[in-house]
Order: sequence, then structure tokens, then C-alpha cells
Amino acid sequence: MEKLNGKKINTAVFISGRGSNLKSLIKYSKKKSSPIIIRLVISNNLNAKGLIHAKKSNIKSYVISFKHKNITYKKLLNKLLSNDINLICLAGFMKILSKNFIKKFDKPILNIHPSLLPKYKGLNTHKRVIKNNEKYSGATVHLVTEKLDSGRIILKKKIRVSKYDNEKTLEKKVLKIEHLIYPKAIEKLLFSL
Ligand code: GRF
Repeated sequence: MEKLNGKKINTAVFISGRGSNLKSLIKYSKKKSSPIIIRLVISNNLNAKGLIHAKKSNIKSYVISFKHKNITYKKLLNKLLSNDINLICLAGFMKILSKNFIKKFDKPILNIHPSLLPKYKGLNTHKRVIKNNEKYSGATVHLVTEKLDSGRIILKKKIRVSKYDNEKTLEKKVLKIEHLIYPKAIEKLLFSL
């Protein structure tokens, strides 16, 4: 990874759906002090609502089907290379990136997960947290490896789960802190390189 030297890091954000984290990352990237510039948005889903945020900010977006894996990864790597991307942020991206792709990209890939990892990896985190009567939940930003939700943790933040919370209210609370910690985690990572 090249050193910052006042230059912003070309970043790609991968999404599959709503894109509230993308929206907050775009807002953050527009700050003068932000170390990143979002050059590309990649979606595996043509109907991802989040694509609208890229459009509104004139950020190039590409929808790539992950049906034919080998061709997809080749295309993807070419796109990332030709846009000089040095950081990938997964934000609600519902595909698991292959070991080979991660190795070939050879630059940091971050992901945000709506739980206090290593607890509650995978899907339906809020449902499981409520079911287990957990007192705390939260969000975690971590580096991506081929193992789901298991790479080195960069930052996590805890919130209290109230006895009145349900899946929806908890999701809302956690999303709020996701939007706060993703930019902070990016700074923590980039300034430690
Ligand atoms: C977030 O809860 C994120 O942690 C998880 O998927 C959700 C995506 O939400 N990986 P959004 O598309 O960013 O609104």
C-alpha cells in the first residue's frame, strides 16, 4: 500500500442493497480531511437501492453478476486496476470474495458487520442477539479474509440492547454506530500503514 503523503486513497465500495453505509462513506469522503476518495461503486445487484447514492455524487458504478465466478473476478480485478483502487470497503455486500481474488488484489479490503465480532458472524445477527437476550450488541469493522467475518478487527463499538428492543429497533441503533465507526476504522487502518 502506498503511503498517504497528502494524496487521497482511491477507494471502491461494494454494495448489494440499501447502501446507507455507502451514503455515509460518500459524505465522509467529501470532507477535506478525509484520506479517501470514492472512485467506484460495485454492486452484484442491479436493483440495489444504494446505486442511487453513487449516481447522485457522480461516482462511477458497475453492476457485476457473480454467476460465472472466474470471468467475474477477472473483470473485477481489471476494473479495480484500471481505476487505481487501493482500498475496498464492503458495505452490505452479500457475496463472499474468493481467496484467490483477495490474494490477487493484494491491498486492504474492509468489511462492516452488525455485531460484536467474533460473536454472531453471518446473517440475521439482530434476530439472534434479541433471541439470546444479549445485553450488548454493536458493530465491527474488520479486514476481509476468505473466512466469513473473521479477519483482523480494526474497530468495534458496543451499544446496550434494551429489553424493549426488537430486530428493527436494534438494527436502527446499530446502523447509526456503523455510520460512525466505518470512517474511523478507515482512518485507523490507513494511518497505521
Ligand atoms: C449493514 O448492517 C452492514 O453491517 C451489513 O449489511 C448492512 C448493510 O446496510 N454488512 P446498508 O446497505 O449499508 O444500509
